[in-house]
Amino acid sequence: MKDIVVNVLEKVLSGKLKKGEIEKFLEVPPQQEMGDFAFPCFALAKIEKKNPLAIATDLSEKIRKNLPKEISGVEVKSAYVNFFIDKKFLAEKVLKEATKKGYGSSKEGNGKKIVIDLSSPNIAKPFGIGHLRSTIIGGSISNIASYLGYKTVKINYLGDWGTQFGKLIVGYNNWGDEKKLKDNPIAHLLELYVRANDEQYEQAARDEFRKLEEGDKKNLALWKKFRDLSLKDFNEIYEFLGVKFDVISGESLYNDKMGPVVNKLEKKGLLKESEGAMVVDLDKEGLGVVLIKKNDGTSLYATRDLTAAIDRFEKYKFNRMIYEVGQEQKLHFKQVFRVLKLLGYDFSDDCVHVAHGLYLGEDGKKFATRKGKTVMMKEVIKETYEIAKKNLLSREAKLSDLDLDHRAHSIALSAIIYGDLKNYRENDVVFDIDKFLEFEGNTGPYLLYAYARASSILRKVKSKKQKVEIFDLSPQETALLTKLQNFPNVVKSAYDQLAPNLIANYSYELAQIFNEFYHAHPVIGSKEEAFRLKLIDAFRNVLKTGLGLLGIDVLEEM
Ligand code: ARG
Repeated sequence: MKDIVVNVLEKVLSGKLKKGEIEKFLEVPPQQEMGDFAFPCFALAKIEKKNPLAIATDLSEKIRKNLPKEISGVEVKSAYVNFFIDKKFLAEKVLKEATKKGYGSSKEGNGKKIVIDLSSPNIAKPFGIGHLRSTIIGGSISNIASYLGYKTVKINYLGDWGTQFGKLIVGYNNWGDEKKLKDNPIAHLLELYVRANDEQYEQAARDEFRKLEEGDKKNLALWKKFRDLSLKDFNEIYEFLGVKFDVISGESLYNDKMGPVVNKLEKKGLLKESEGAMVVDLDKEGLGVVLIKKNDGTSLYATRDLTAAIDRFEKYKFNRMIYEVGQEQKLHFKQVFRVLKLLGYDFSDDCVHVAHGLYLGEDGKKFATRKGKTVMMKEVIKETYEIAKKNLLSREAKLSDLDLDHRAHSIALSAIIYGDLKNYRENDVVFDIDKFLEFEGNTGPYLLYAYARASSILRKVKSKKQKVEIFDLSPQETALLTKLQNFPNVVKSAYDQLAPNLIANYSYELAQIFNEFYHAHPVIGSKEEAFRLKLIDAFRNVLKTGLGLLGIDVLEEM
């Protein structure tokens, strides 16, 4: 549709602006009364040294003489030429396209490879709320990218190496309890870590970690045990979220591969000694000092990330690598990307840190402690599921267990994912489960409900094929069609800005417009029945697709 407007503008401007420039200038007006597209004449006025209003008037006259059948009219408003798309044409086009599977998808990615580093929780520690955000946002970005034809590789890069394992081993050797470890591994490992995280065990912990780095069999076996137990625990969360990874990797993978990187840093004269440790000094660039090797020879987070990035580039030859990690690690990633560049790896220009903000509690403080205890993500999820179940039971008593479980799961999932993704990722999110679960307002369950309502209308229809006839469109119908038409642009922007919230916000607006349409118009039995059913079908398809890109499954009945 945009093409039609661009083409006619190109024709009447006869070379004064290039096609790409016209496309860039063309806007979608904020209100329906102002048409479907608006072309501002300010830039042209500058070039021609004329009054913008005069230019707009002149253009509109020329367009009227060349009016394509898909455009019903043009109007001048201040220095804009507003275009009105022919409504019947709009309706036919949208109904045809928006009811198709894959509407809004494209091949723009052309198979280009994108590595996404996401989730990446730390072994032997509770799955954090930041890891939840990373899993949700990273997962959605991956869905969106695939929808646009990119090939994505999702890597879960576990925090499974580092000096904390020395502490954990000391803790385990002193106070380890097999039964507790079996029943509640993360809680027990955390307890062991906290007990050993004391000055008096510092040397012992350092020794144990060094032994681990040197490949000591007993320590390696312990480490593996902690890792397996943790992963099993994390998998329950991944199962709930329906997230799958292409690669489960971790910092440990790079433990014995850092030598060449350190050597290369040395050869390039980038390494410097500082108090016995080896560092890269980026102070002059305002990026501080990057620790590469500690004075006892053990490696660091940054060293492992450098090695991992190079390894991934060699393995995947990616066009882009995205790290979905909390914004508190901004400096870390700036440092890593910069050091890669200094090492001569130009792929560092294709690495991005896609940061996210914090989850806040209802009191607006960081959502990290509850009654002084660490929040266990698994428990938060379970709690959400239980509330959803209770709500369902209070509304409808006779659900089979299977149905109840399925619905409670979808509702809880929509609540948590949408509660997060409706916000721009860099903003902090108030994590308020009760609010997230509400059926009214800007929530996941509200969207599921709108979808289920559309499904239920379509279920009621007995006769199948009716010829779709398009009568004059009401404002609500036009609004819904226009919104549906815009979906592909929204998906594209969400990818360009790495911002799934654009799709979340769009879905909410779409559902609102649908509800307005539905309240204003009878469907079954009306003379517009066939058209309206098709419109509902298109709405249903687009909402399902949008929610799917966020990682939310719809329910046919609620
Ligand atoms: N495990 C880290 C943490 O919890 C996140 C890792 C992110 N990815 C990376 N390549 N550094 O803070």
